[in-house]
Amino acid sequence: MYLKCTSHLITEEQLKKTKAIVEKFGAPGGMGEFLQKKLLERSEHTANWVYDYWLEDMYLSNRLALPVNSSPVMVFPKQNFRSQSDTLRFAAHLISGVLEYKSLIDGRALPVDYARGQLAGTPLCMDQYNKVFTSYRLPGPKTDTLVAQKSTVMPEPEHIIVACKNQFFVLDVVINFRRLNEKDLYTQLERIRKMSDIEEERLPPIGLLTSDDRTQWAEARSMLIKDSTNRDSIDMIERCLCLVCLDEPSGTELTDTNRALLMLHGGGTDKNGGNRWYDKPMQFVIGADGSCGVVCEHSPFEGIVLVQCTEYLLRYMRGSPSKLVRAASMSELPAPRQLHWKCSADIQTFLTSSADKLQRLVKNLDMNVSKFTGYGKEFIKKQKMSPDAYVQVALQFTFYRCHGCLVPTYESASIRRFQEGRVDNIRSSTPEALAFVKAMDVEKMELLWTAIKAQTNYTILAITGMAIDNHLLGLREIAKELKLEKPELFSDTTYATSIHFILSTSQVPTTEEMFCCYGPVVPNGYGACYNPQTDHIIFCVSSFCDSAETSSDLFVKTLEGCLKEMQDLCTKCNTEAKPADSTKRKDGTTKLDYSC
Ligand code: COA
Repeated sequence: MYLKCTSHLITEEQLKKTKAIVEKFGAPGGMGEFLQKKLLERSEHTANWVYDYWLEDMYLSNRLALPVNSSPVMVFPKQNFRSQSDTLRFAAHLISGVLEYKSLIDGRALPVDYARGQLAGTPLCMDQYNKVFTSYRLPGPKTDTLVAQKSTVMPEPEHIIVACKNQFFVLDVVINFRRLNEKDLYTQLERIRKMSDIEEERLPPIGLLTSDDRTQWAEARSMLIKDSTNRDSIDMIERCLCLVCLDEPSGTELTDTNRALLMLHGGGTDKNGGNRWYDKPMQFVIGADGSCGVVCEHSPFEGIVLVQCTEYLLRYMRGSPSKLVRAASMSELPAPRQLHWKCSADIQTFLTSSADKLQRLVKNLDMNVSKFTGYGKEFIKKQKMSPDAYVQVALQFTFYRCHGCLVPTYESASIRRFQEGRVDNIRSSTPEALAFVKAMDVEKMELLWTAIKAQTNYTILAITGMAIDNHLLGLREIAKELKLEKPELFSDTTYATSIHFILSTSQVPTTEEMFCCYGPVVPNGYGACYNPQTDHIIFCVSSFCDSAETSSDLFVKTLEGCLKEMQDLCTKCNTEAKPADSTKRKDGTTKLDYSC
């Protein structure tokens, strides 16, 4: 399967070499067989044999800065705040919703999720939800650590960190075993707002350090915590439920693309770039200009869990009207505390360097959020095709049109059907997709069917734990663990090419009016997040300006053209009237091209 996934993406010469390596690796009594046996042994004593390897490989060992490179965001519909108190009312309402949701998680009261779409109906592992408000990604010199606090049913003295004008404030949300109500929260937020206005008390924007690459931030952090004041402040942030970032007006036109950019990086140091703490999984951003959303540190959970949580909050805010009618009564509430920092000259130097790097990241992000209104899921379903597979084939078609070739592509496939399951990869640049996009100039409906079928088959294999990326990772990592020489399979150029995901894609559907987006995962790549709706599809395409090869605008424009051409092809061939499965065998079974 590895050869099938890579053979059409590499040169003939490289393919010959890789074939020999794969044969040797897989030969009876060879290294592959030995490592497979070890992996099976590992699976006997772990809940999920790949989870730790995957977490380390996908996130913790990645040294790149979290904003843009790793942390996805949800962008809320633009809000219309008429005054500062409107903003704080929204924040208090949202925090109330967060506390409700947190108590559902702690009380194990969330209904179990069930798979939808392909192979619908299977219950899904709920483990990721427990990490939403209890995790923290601690930076380390070589690798980070995902720290988890124990969650309890008893209301403990919990707190939220409110970031305002680059200052951090502790907002206790449980005082004397009582959860603060919305009115109390509003009172406290007003106090915070006032405290942040006192210019003499303003401290340097320490949050900027968390936007730096992980090794640099780890170094700055260990210097910072030598001082006990800093240590206490960091400790409060690391143990909070989440951050609420009250942002200043951005001064930009609030288009979908600009709001996405503001969520991804805060607009840089002169805007709200320092009003963040990127290590914390959930940062709710509430901009005075109505630009709102969530920034998510990705290592503890997937985008789908993030969507569930934020949709709950939006529904909560719509369904339970703001409860601020009666006068505030909690003057006895202890005042929120501002966190203090002692900034040595060394820390100042780190801050200057982090600020520079964030500015470069801001300048470098080429983003295009667009709504394709030609058609949506409904049209595709009528063609008896999987909407997800169809969009993936359209993305391949687009890449081919823009760049004249296909490249290793990542599509996240949820494996929450398994305990502690996170994701595997659907390698969407299938040989069938290549055949289709090459033939598209001469219109080949059969090839579109075959490409859709290949994509759907791969999806089914991936979501049932039969894809190759996690398996190869397991074999690679167990060899490392056993201190064996790296098998040639993993030092081969084909392997390096195959995990350099120029196209990194993900379906993040929502039922509320919002969308998810993220940055590319390699310097010459695209991040393409899509949200299929009944009659339209939202695409968020990102790339880096300093890559001469990529352009998000060109990609989106081409994508729209490709989607139209595919629609024309379907309409012309009247696929609505055709049987759903052209690859069904006579006995009714379906041929799975990718079965191992
Ligand atoms: N004919 C008609 N309808 C079809 C069809 C066909 N041949 N194939 C699928 N459909 C329907 C499905 O029944 C489903 O219907 P529904 O809208 O009533 O539920 C709908 O089309 C969508 O199915 P499909 O497009 O095939 O996608 P999916 O929902 O199965 O999703 C993945 C596929 C890979 C995206 C999904 O399995 C997954 O893993 N999602 C998680 C991705 C993720 O982790 N994202 C976040 C990363 S941070």
